[in-house]
Amino acid sequence: MCGIIGFSGKTDAKSIILDGLKRLEYRGYDSAGIALQKDNTINMVKTTGKVDNLVKIAESNKNLVGNCGIGHTRWATHGVPSDVNAHPHMSSDGKFAIVHNGIIENHAEIKKSLIDKGIKFLSETDTEVIVQLLDYYYDGDIKKTLAKISSMLEGSYALGVLCADFPGSIFAAKVSSPLIIGVGAGENYFASDITAFISHTKNVIDLDDGEFAEITADRVSVFDHNLRDIKKEERKITWDVAAAEKSGYEHFMLKEIMEQPGALKATIEPRIKDGRVSFDELNIDMKKYDRILITACGSAYYAGCVGRDVIEKLCRLHVHTEVASELRYRDPMIDEKTLVMVISQSGETADTIAAIKEAKNKNADVVAIVNVVGSTIAKLADYTIYTWAGPEIAVATTKGYTTQVAVLYMFAVWAAGKLGRIDDKKLKELTNDIKILPERAQRTLDLNTRVKKLADKYYSKQSIFFIGRYLDYAVCLEGSLKLKEISYIHSEAYAAGELKHGTIALIEDGRLVVSVCCYEPLLDKIISNIQQVKARGAQVLALAIEGNKKIFAEADDVLLVPKANELFMAAVEIIPLQLFAYYVAKNNHCDIDKPKNLAKSVTVE
Ligand code: M6R
Repeated sequence: MCGIIGFSGKTDAKSIILDGLKRLEYRGYDSAGIALQKDNTINMVKTTGKVDNLVKIAESNKNLVGNCGIGHTRWATHGVPSDVNAHPHMSSDGKFAIVHNGIIENHAEIKKSLIDKGIKFLSETDTEVIVQLLDYYYDGDIKKTLAKISSMLEGSYALGVLCADFPGSIFAAKVSSPLIIGVGAGENYFASDITAFISHTKNVIDLDDGEFAEITADRVSVFDHNLRDIKKEERKITWDVAAAEKSGYEHFMLKEIMEQPGALKATIEPRIKDGRVSFDELNIDMKKYDRILITACGSAYYAGCVGRDVIEKLCRLHVHTEVASELRYRDPMIDEKTLVMVISQSGETADTIAAIKEAKNKNADVVAIVNVVGSTIAKLADYTIYTWAGPEIAVATTKGYTTQVAVLYMFAVWAAGKLGRIDDKKLKELTNDIKILPERAQRTLDLNTRVKKLADKYYSKQSIFFIGRYLDYAVCLEGSLKLKEISYIHSEAYAAGELKHGTIALIEDGRLVVSVCCYEPLLDKIISNIQQVKARGAQVLALAIEGNKKIFAEADDVLLVPKANELFMAAVEIIPLQLFAYYVAKNNHCDIDKPKNLAKSVTVE
C-alpha cells in the first residue's frame, strides 16, 4: 500500500528520495509526491501515475532543492487518485508538509471541527486533517504540537513531517503502521520499509507505536508523548541490497520463484538439531491446548490450509482455519485452550492484526509465522517464528508462501513429538523428509522450460479451473490465486469431488482444467474426476509425481514433479503452478510484479 521515505543529510535529497520511491513502487500505488526543504522554505511536487512521471516533473523543477525532505507513494483509500489527493499535503501558509500511511478513523469529526473554525480543506483525504491540525495548534514548539495532535488522532499512521521553522530536521511518528529509521554516516532516513534505503545503510532503529523522532543529518532522537527521550537500540539488517534488486531477472517474481530452494534452506536448516525439529522461539506447552486455529489472508491463508491438514494428521488435534478478514465477525470460540497461529509474510496485514487482537482479547496464546523482522505482527504475537525468506518484492508471494508451508510442516512434526503422537524414530524420519525439501524444490525448477511451453499453449484461455483432493486441493487454492492475481484470467480452485455438485456445469469444450494429482493415496479418485471433465470437452493439464505412468493416458499434458513425503508435497508441487501463472501473465503482457489494484502489504481493513 502507501510508501513513505524521509531523508536528512548533506547531499541532494531529491535524487535519494526519488530513488527510494522507486524502490517502494512494489507496495502498490496510484500517485506519488515529494517535498524538499531548503532553509525556511518547503517546496513540493506531486502527480498521479508512476514514480517515473514524478521524476520527470521533479527533475525539471528548479525550486525543488534541499538536503532534507519527504516522499510518498499513495494507494487511494479516501478520495480518488488525483494530484490534489496525492501526498505530501501542505498547510496553506507553507509551514508544514506531511506524508502519511494508514487511516485516520476520526477524520470526519476533526475535519468538521476545523471547518467550523474557518479552515479550508483542499483534498478529499483523511490525511489532510493532520496537516491542518499541525498548522492550527502550532505554537513554535514542533515536538509539543506533534504530541498534542497525535493524541487527537484515532486510527493508524506512519507520519513524516517537515516544518519550515526547523531546516535540516525531519519528524516522524507512528501508531500501527510500519516506520523504520535508517542510521547512516552524516545522513539519516525513515521509511515504511527498509528497501527504500537499504542501498545507503543497513543500520536501523524500529520506531514503536506512540513514539516520535526528530531526525537530522547527524542525529536521531526518539521521544514519547510526554517529550521524554527514549533510548533505542540499533539493529543491523542481515540481507544485502542485491536481495532487493532483480539481479538480471526480468521480474522480481521470477527471481523469487528461483530463490525458493535457498529460502527453504534458510527456513529449515537452522531449526534442525540432532536430526529433530527444534523451535527455540516457542516456549509453549502443547498439552495445554485442545485446538489450534490458523488465521491469515490470501496466500498466507492458503499456506495455513496446508498446515491445517498436516498438523491435524500428525498431532491428532482439532485444527481449524479461518480467513483473518472474517474472524472477528464470528465471535469465534477461542479461549486460553486455543492456540492461535497467524501467518503473514509482511507482518503488516491489517485484517490479520485485527484477528490477533480478537484472539488476545479472548485469552488465546498467539504464535505468528512472519517474514519481515520487527513487523507489527511479529511484535504483537506472543511467539514469533520467522521464515527467513529474505525480502519479497513481487506483489504475488512465492517464496513467502513456500517458507510458511515449511514452517507449518516443522511445527506439525515438533508438536506431534511434544504431544507424544509420534515416537523419536518417526520424528527423525519426518524431520529428514522436511530437510530434503530444498533439494526437491531445486529439481522442480528444472521444469521451467517445459512450463513455459505449456503457458505458450494455454495463455489465451478465458477461464482456468484447478482441481485436487485433500492437500492437493489446498495447493490448487494457491495456484489459482497466483494465476488470477497476475494474469487477470478468471480462475477457480475446486475440491475435485465438489465439481459434480454444481461447478461441472461450467466445464465445456476447450476449458482448461489443471488437475493436481500429487497426493497418491487419492490418485484413482482424481483420475475419475479428470475423466468426468474430459468427457465434457475439457483440456487437462495434470501435475503428478515422477514415476506416475497412469496419468499420461488421462491428461492432455503432464508435468512430473520430484517425489517427497506425501504430507510435504505442497512446497514442491506449488512451484510449477507459480511458474505457469508467471509465464501466462507474461504472454498476456501483464505488469507481473505490480498487478493492477493490488498492493504488497494490505494495511487497510
Ligand atoms: O503479508 P501477508 O502474508 O499477510 O499478506 C497476505 C495476503 O495479502 C497475500 O498473501 C496476498 O494474497 C498475495 N498477493 C498473494 O500473492
